Amino acid sequence: MTTSQGLKLVDLDEAGVDNAFRADVLAGLSQEPKAVPARWFYDDAGSKLFEKITQLPEYYPTRAETEILRDRGAEFAKLIRPGSTVVEFGSGSSVKTPLLLSAIEPSAYVPLDISGDFLRASAADLAEKFPGLPVYPVEADFMRQVELPDAVADLPKLGFFPGSTIGNMVARTAVDLLRSMRETLGVGAQLLIGMDQIKDEDVLVSAYDDAAGVTAAFNLNLVTRINRELGGTIPLEALKHEARWNDDFARVEMHLVATHDITFEVDGKSFAMAEGESIHTENSHKFNRRTSNMLLLAGGWEPTKRWLDDQGRFSLLLAEARAPRSAP
Ligand code: AVI
Repeated sequence: MTTSQGLKLVDLDEAGVDNAFRADVLAGLSQEPKAVPARWFYDDAGSKLFEKITQLPEYYPTRAETEILRDRGAEFAKLIRPGSTVVEFGSGSSVKTPLLLSAIEPSAYVPLDISGDFLRASAADLAEKFPGLPVYPVEADFMRQVELPDAVADLPKLGFFPGSTIGNMVARTAVDLLRSMRETLGVGAQLLIGMDQIKDEDVLVSAYDDAAGVTAAFNLNLVTRINRELGGTIPLEALKHEARWNDDFARVEMHLVATHDITFEVDGKSFAMAEGESIHTENSHKFNRRTSNMLLLAGGWEPTKRWLDDQGRFSLLLAEARAPRSAP
């Protein structure tokens, strides 16, 4: 798949398998402890399971963030520059983005996504909901600096990155992303970003280990995908989903733990797991006021306002890309 600028976004082999997926899985299973990047959860089945997760009683982040977006529209309208172009990193959900767009009267909407299918669907959805709003979808890997359409070059910019997706990155990657967002949007731009809050361990762990087993199915679907796309023989029944709170790094970790010793193949290579050994599949970092401010500052964004939902579970932060100045 290539962009309009001729850049290769996804490199598929003859069988249609993403070569980056193969490389990540083989490298991740060969290292100690084993780990596979969370971005590979989202095949069709994984994306559907994630949609189900957002509606679970235990999974509060989506509801809490939506509550802030619904209730604080008047404040957004005061603090976000009039006529801003909203640049959304990742395709917008059918609920959250319209709440923001109707609060601030934007000049244009630019959804950025690596997946053309999601991009086209969300662009069409938004264009229908907001007739008259120019929508310029851009197929791009937003982990790197992106060239925005000429039509929005001279307009004020608001980056939008909801969902606490930033929390799925380790600090170094999160800072790289924030810096490339700053490059994409330019000095003077604003950023509205969701970050989930540190809270009671039981509440956090249940949000990632729900009673209905949907998050377990989401985690295990990664193995189904590896077996299907990479000729894997990983025995699904020998792996169990586990969500753990890592207090040192303030994150919920998801693991797939072997219930007994196993051996298996992936892409013709042999692997083994001892009973109790795990494949680490996701980090979901949680923040407080200081750590979210610190992360934003490290990425070149000065925090200007922070909102919490009524129960203080989730935060939305507004930040600004100020010109560098000498400081003590
Ligand atoms: C997409 N991301 C912000 C979710 C999270 O909460 O970290 C992914 C997720 N994993 C398990 N449940 C939800």
